[in-house]
Amino acid sequence: MTSEILAAPPVALGTWAWGDSGEAGDGYFGSRLTASGLREVVDKAQSNGFTLWDTAAVYGMGRSETVLAQALKGHARGEYRLSTKFTPQIAGDGDDPVADMLERSLDRLGTDHVDLYWIHNPADVARWTPHLIPLLRSGRIRHVGVSNHDMKEIALADQILGEAGFRVEAVQNHYSLLYRSSERAGILDHCRAHGVRFFSYMVLEQGALTGRYSPARPMPEGSSRAAVYNGILPRLQTLTDRLRAIGDDRDASAADVATAWAIAKGTTPIVGVTNAGHIDGLVRARGIELADDEIAELEALADATGVDTRGSWEHGM
Ligand SMILES: NC(=O)c1ccc[n+]([C@@H]2O[C@H](COP(=O)([O-])OP(=O)(O)OC[C@H]3O[C@@H](n4cnc5c(N)ncnc54)[C@H](OP(=O)(O)O)[C@@H]3O)[C@@H](O)[C@H]2O)c1
Repeated sequence: MTSEILAAPPVALGTWAWGDSGEAGDGYFGSRLTASGLREVVDKAQSNGFTLWDTAAVYGMGRSETVLAQALKGHARGEYRLSTKFTPQIAGDGDDPVADMLERSLDRLGTDHVDLYWIHNPADVARWTPHLIPLLRSGRIRHVGVSNHDMKEIALADQILGEAGFRVEAVQNHYSLLYRSSERAGILDHCRAHGVRFFSYMVLEQGALTGRYSPARPMPEGSSRAAVYNGILPRLQTLTDRLRAIGDDRDASAADVATAWAIAKGTTPIVGVTNAGHIDGLVRARGIELADDEIAELEALADATGVDTRGSWEHGM
């Protein structure tokens, strides 16, 4: 079965940080985002062919979806694709909490369908996966994927969907130079072998791999990402210096190289863009071809940092 998701652009755009914007304040990321700035991000992304937008009901408790819809106003629905998620931890207690959460997402997103719908995590695969089937049949969701699932959980979801003639079409896991558990667990190979698209999230480690942040210039004080990353920034210096040097040879930045690495590994990065300049970076990243020895060197430097950036919401792969 071919899937239009397999033909998606080489990079998807992530909007978790957008849930922090405006009145919601500086929650997880501590970023100051404005409606006009995000509108610029959308316009520039769309005109450069980056048309797949990833969000979740839980990002800013709906705010990311609302802000994304506002920023996309003026673009025809056929020109972009929407990816959002069912998060088991915020499920309601109605007859069909998946359908209910989807309806609220559709409402905030101002659309009658989602192109790619995810079960956000494997809290209870057997319980939640079957709820996707009627939504696929009705066309409210066009394709489905699973996020933060290990091999066994992917197989179980695939079996449940398979019995109804559908399948897991995409996997979305944390995957960066610093966090390669999905590769080590064979999930990347599995996806390649079965024509399942692997979306890598946090390829920039929420900014820690961009070289923008350092002990002298830490992440925004009081934000959740600062609590996770500021303490390990000194150990990342050699890696980010090397990313920057490889980028210098190609008129690109450290972030562009970190993104190009994830593309070179056969994955589709979901990059959490927060300003229009980041789109220029994605244009550069999709044109960068890293040599095998550069990839090996970056991975060795990443391993040498000895850091573990597994998210608090993630389990081992
Ligand atoms: N399924 C899941 O459980 C899950 C979990 C996490 C994330 N995700 C998805 O994956 C997306 C990406 O993850 P993320 O946003 O957490 O982290 P990320 O993409 O690793 O990093 C995003 C941060 O990096 C900076 N940045 C972005 N693009 C840049 C560029 N081209 N050059 C330099 N800096 C750049 C921005 O920081 P500044 O604003 O400070 O510059 C931004 O907030 C999320 O938005 C979400 O859609 C999914």
